[in-house]
Amino acid sequence: MIEESLRSLLNRARKAVTDAKNMSDIDALDIAFLGRKGELADLMKQMSSAKSEDRPKLGAMANEVKTEIEKLISLKRDSFAMSGLQKQLDQEREDVTEPGIKPAQGHLHLMNHAIRDIEKIFTDAGFVRVRYPEVEWDKYAFENLNMPADHPARDEWETFFVDTPPDAKNGKMILTPHATSGTARILSEKDLPIRAINISKTYRRQIDLTHVPMFHQFDGLIVDKGLNLTHLLGILDYFVKSFFGPDRKVRVRPYHFRFTEPSFEVDISTDSKMGKNGWLELGGAGMLHPNVLKAAGIDPEVYTGLAFGWGVERTYMMREGLHMDDIRTLYKNDLRFLNQF
Ligand code: DAH
Repeated sequence: MIEESLRSLLNRARKAVTDAKNMSDIDALDIAFLGRKGELADLMKQMSSAKSEDRPKLGAMANEVKTEIEKLISLKRDSFAMSGLQKQLDQEREDVTEPGIKPAQGHLHLMNHAIRDIEKIFTDAGFVRVRYPEVEWDKYAFENLNMPADHPARDEWETFFVDTPPDAKNGKMILTPHATSGTARILSEKDLPIRAINISKTYRRQIDLTHVPMFHQFDGLIVDKGLNLTHLLGILDYFVKSFFGPDRKVRVRPYHFRFTEPSFEVDISTDSKMGKNGWLELGGAGMLHPNVLKAAGIDPEVYTGLAFGWGVERTYMMREGLHMDDIRTLYKNDLRFLNQF
């Protein structure tokens, strides 16, 4: 009787396992046949009703059935796992003949382009490009430029101060608010004659549609014997024609800077790209004030100097005819903007 049932159990298990469609069918069969409350367990309970001399044989048979069903289930599980893996392999197969993905190619930031252009124009004219720390001393940004402590002219340079004790020789530590601090540094090296261009990052406490707290300036300087205003005008004209084009004119208007005397503001003539006809303000220039030469230990009776300087961002935007509503766009790193150049 039990023997019959065991045989029938094995046959049904064989069929059920063969018909199983997926892993969860198999899991259910495992429980139904071999589980603690499964069919085999039921039959084992009936074992006590068998004759005692039959029991060892029936026990051995039950074990064989159990092992056989376990084997069937395990083989089926393996085959489901294999076919799942095969499916995954098929899906993930690499097509080595497919053309590669080209990485997007970037380019230099617009300001680096502008800086390179400016550098080239001046180095072609014999200027040496110099660079100085962006974290600067008051001495070079103001004191040596004829702006003693507490002079109201300093207010124009909305300066960031570094929170450290002042240095006895150099004064307070600041973020340089203009590239002219580089000019004070070159002068103090006294390697005469001088023909140098300092292009650097500058910092001011200002942010709005037309200002960013970090921007770039370049500051040019020539110190030699017998320089006069015509040399300055010649250099300005050379730069404007090289950077903006041969039809452009430059003019200077009297102005006041503490470190130059006389001082000027420099304008360039506009063209159709710029939208309006007339003149646009470019930057500042002048002949170095004798006090600035003296502060660096250079005799103003022997040497004269000329200087000029202005913002890279503004200059670049004028050349490209970029009418930007918000100068901060330059530094937002939005590819929709940058990719246009
Ligand atoms: N440094 C000045 C500024 O930030 C610009 C300037 C004016 C630079 C006259 C010069 C100069 O070298 O001669 O506004």
